[in-house]
This record gives sequence, C-alpha cells and structure tokens, in this order.
Amino acid sequence: MCGIVGYTGKALALSPVLEGLRRLEYRGYDSAGIALVVTEGGPLWVEKRAGKLSNLESTLGATNPDANSGIGHTRWATHGGPTDLNAHPHLDNDGKLALIHNGIIENYVELRELLEARGHIFKSETDTESVVHLLSDARKSHGGDLAAAMREVCAQLRGSFTLLAIHSDEPGRIVGARRNSPLVVGVGDGENFLASDVAAFIAHTKHALELGQDEVVDITATTITVTDLAGNVLTPREFEIMWDASAAERGGYPHFMLKEIYEQPKAIADTLIGRTAGLSAEIIGGIDLEGISKVVIIACGTAYHAGLVGKYAIEKWANVPVDVELASEYRYREPSVDASTLVIPISQSGETMDTLMAMRYARSHGARVFAVCNTNGSTIPRESDAVLYTHAGPEIAVASTKAFATQLIAMYLIALHLGRVRGAITEEFYAEIGAEIADLPDKVEQVLETVEPLRALTREFKDSSSVLFLGRHVGYPTALEGALKLKELAYMHAEGFAGGELKHGPIALIDQGTPVIAIMPTSNSALYEKMASNVQEVKARGAVVIAIGDADLASATHNIRIPTSHDFLQPVLAVVPLQVIAYEMAVARGNDVDQPRNLAKSVTVE
Ligand code: M6R
Repeated sequence: MCGIVGYTGKALALSPVLEGLRRLEYRGYDSAGIALVVTEGGPLWVEKRAGKLSNLESTLGATNPDANSGIGHTRWATHGGPTDLNAHPHLDNDGKLALIHNGIIENYVELRELLEARGHIFKSETDTESVVHLLSDARKSHGGDLAAAMREVCAQLRGSFTLLAIHSDEPGRIVGARRNSPLVVGVGDGENFLASDVAAFIAHTKHALELGQDEVVDITATTITVTDLAGNVLTPREFEIMWDASAAERGGYPHFMLKEIYEQPKAIADTLIGRTAGLSAEIIGGIDLEGISKVVIIACGTAYHAGLVGKYAIEKWANVPVDVELASEYRYREPSVDASTLVIPISQSGETMDTLMAMRYARSHGARVFAVCNTNGSTIPRESDAVLYTHAGPEIAVASTKAFATQLIAMYLIALHLGRVRGAITEEFYAEIGAEIADLPDKVEQVLETVEPLRALTREFKDSSSVLFLGRHVGYPTALEGALKLKELAYMHAEGFAGGELKHGPIALIDQGTPVIAIMPTSNSALYEKMASNVQEVKARGAVVIAIGDADLASATHNIRIPTSHDFLQPVLAVVPLQVIAYEMAVARGNDVDQPRNLAKSVTVE
C-alpha cells in the first residue's frame, strides 16, 4: 500500500531510487514520483506521473540529474484519485521540501484548515499534503533541523504513516518516520537506503536495521541516527537479509506469479527445515500452550483461508476449540478474549493493518499472541509474544500463492505441536503425519508437472459469467481460495461453497454450462461419496464439472488428478491447479497478472 524508497550516497540517485520503485511497485501502482536534490538551496527536481511506474520512466527517458540523494514513491490511492497532482512527492510552497507518505493521516482535514488559514496553498486532494506544509513550518521554527521538525510533526498526526522528507538546503540528508506502516534502513558502504521493504535495496546491501513505532530516522551517506519522538537516541535492531536479489526477480518467467507458483516445493521444504521433529522452544518463546482454553486465528484474504484449514487441523489434532476471524471484523464487535486465549495472526507481509489492529485488541485483553509471518522484522511479529516464520521468500505478485502454501504448513506444525503438548495425539500419529508433511514438496512438484493441460481447459470457460467452486471439510477453504484467486486475477464472478450447503440456496445459480470446480475429498475419505452426490446435483442442472482429486470422478466433465495425501494435507496439493487456472484465466483475458486492478500487496490501511 504505497512503496517508499530513499537513497543517499555517491551514486547518481535516480538509478537506485527507480530500481527500488521497480521492486516495490507491487505495493501500489496508481502513480509514481521522485524528488531529487540537484541544486543546494534551489528548487527540488521533481517528476511524477499517474499510472504505473512505466509512465514515469517513459517521461524520464535518458534523464539522469546530477543528484546524490532523493526519494521515490509508488502509490495506492486513498485520498484523491490517481492523478499527476495527487501523486507523491508533495512539496511545500517554497518548492524546497519534499515529502512522501504511506498510510492515512486521519486528522488531515483539521490540519489543512489550520494551514490554509496560515496562508499555505494546497495543490492536491491528498491527506499527505497537510503533512508537508506542517513540516515546512516546523522546520522553520526548529532553525532548519528537519529531524526535530519531523518529531514535532509526528506527535501531531493521527493515523498510520511512513514518511520520508528531503530539503534542498541539506543535500544528502533524508529524514523518515514510521507509525503502523513499515520502514527499514539499508546500511551500505558509503551509501544508505530507506524503504518500505528490503526488496528495494537488496541488490546493494543485505545489512538492514529495523525501526520501531514512532521512531524517526535521520540518514546521510555515512551516518544513521534513530530517535524516539522525544529525541532520545535509540539503538535499532540489526538484521541480515537471508535471500538474494535474484529471489525478487522474475528469473525467466513471464510473471512473478508463475515463478512463485513453481517455487512452492522449495518454499514448503524451507519452511519445514528443522521443524519436522517439533517446534523449538526458541519459536514458542515463553508462551504456556498447555494452559490455553481456546485458539483464535485472525487474518485476511488468503491468509484467512489458511486459518480456516488450520481450524480443522487444530481442533482435530489438539482438541481445542478454534475460532477463525476476519481481522477487519474482529475488534469492532469487542469479542471476549482473555489470558487463556491463544491468538494466531497469520500474515505474509506482517503489515496488514486489519490483522495488526485485531491482534493489538486481543493482546490488550491479555491474550498470548503467536504470529505466523513471512516477513522478518515486520510489525506483526515484532508485537507478538512468539513467531513462526514461514520461509516462502519474497512474494512479489499481488496474488498470494507460495505464502499460502507455507501458511498451511505452519498451521499443520502448530496443530501437531499443540496436540503433542496437550497430550491429544500419540507419538506414532505425530511421526506418521510428520512423514506425510515431509512428502509434500515432492507431491507439489508432481502436481506442477501435470498442469500444462489446464491452459487449454481454462480457455474453454474464459467467457463464462460466473465460476463456482465446491469443497467439503478442508476442501471448503480450498474452494474459497480458488474463488478468491479467480476474482482478483480474472475479474470474474467466482464463489466458493461448502458442497453440503448448495441445496440451501446457491444451487439456484447453476445454469446450463455453468463451470463448477469441485475439490473432491481424498478417495478413501468418508466424505468422498457425499461430495460425489453434490457433483451429481449440479451436473443434473447443467453444470460443467471440473473435478480435482486423487481419483477420476466418472460424473465429471474434466478430471484434474493430484497425488493422494492425508485428507487434512490435501489443500496444499489441490490449491495448485486452482492457482494455475486463475493465472491462465488472467492471461487469457488480457489482465495484468502481477498487478491486478485496484489491489496492492500489503494492505496497510483499515
Ligand atoms: O500480508 P497478508 O498475508 O496479511 O495479506 C492478507 C491479504 O491481503 C492477502 O492474502 C490477499 O488476500 C492476497 N492478495 C490474495 O491473493
């Protein structure tokens, strides 16, 4: 939800700033803009354009201004449409101070009124512009000290923000701040970076610093100072980035999404390393898992679907009740939660505002929080009592694939661990399921070897007005995930239903030729026959049925075979053809696969 990058060093700044924006474009692509300090004390060099970064790049052509520091922004619009004027950076009325922002300033209306009354002239409809005018005044009252001004301004803001600012009086200096939105520092050799995500500077340095809530960072090419809002100097946590630049590149694939689909065997294997024998005390932290009376999983979108699968596994293997909550709904109904509740937020980015706020609510009521997250050092794990990191590596495509696969693995590992500490499963059972989980990377590889025919099959229902997905048991959340993928990538109406629920209403949607994708339970499962009956019901009403399962279903029009697995583990395999179908459908319909319309990868607003 907006990507932010800042560079200061010896190189001409345009290139590292543009490179950072390319790597952060997954966060928002409504507009892009850059500000550079070319002339000390003069007007800033600024270019900004509505639309994707490529629009800005074509405007720039071969331009490469003589500037060694600058900031860049790629926007997901909140306040004000995606226009050139609303694009960041925003400038003060002197044209010497530039600011970029990720998040929402909730008190921007009152600030704007106050600033307009003081004579400031606004040019955009954004909430951000209030901040640059406020910062301009504060800087003047602090004798030109931009960091002191930033501290004062942050104390006056309500909402969520990452802010970066530069002033032409001080070439080489960038000041940033964060509250509820991400900001990391990349520590280079004679150059330093600020960015929403380490991907922005991974090609230059693997050494990074984490910033906490309400911290202000002040960098030059050779210095980094972090303070709290009172000005006290802090020592930020350092970390090394474990993946290299190639992980954030397409590597010969036409789209990041396809690459990430094919990376799933490795992502699962990496997430299992050192964990098949059990979760270490280091992961569990100080959480007393034996004393819990209830588990609450909170998440959004795809991560929510992983949580739904987790509910089946935890309730069955650990014998503890589980609620799975849409994070955006959770705290507003003021649910009952106490110290005996284990809350599991699931988030790829670790920055999803809905999940963060729901988790904070639970924590403030005494719950213990055990996060599942893919992004080291992000806000959700930072604020949790313990964290199980998934090792999917960077997920760049907006549609989540390999992160989902690893979130499922995390759910199984947590369910087994809880089952063990609560004495709900035997060691034999643990070993048996553990061996099945360890086989999943190979089985996903087998699925990937057979997906080619889906290209032609998908095109058969490319013009359908609606596609329905059916599943039972863990196949139900898998169906929901298949429908979400198709909606966000193909812009088609798609719905997932529990097979047994059809007859209570949704079956009225079935018409002659309606495509129905049925996720069949494993053929040895007691639910197989029930689901086969549900398929007959839709077929009898004209549906074209595509069945996904470990055996061919005679009544299906098309069968997609996946390897046999333990029935609880089947989503890891069944979701792969669903991802490929959504991918192929997006390609067939001419959509932007990696950056679908209206979406952003990290949703850092409520
Ligand atoms: O970063 P998170 O896992 O917290 O993100 C949650 C959802 O926004 C995310 O899973 C979203 O639904 C995906 N784009 C779906 O493919």
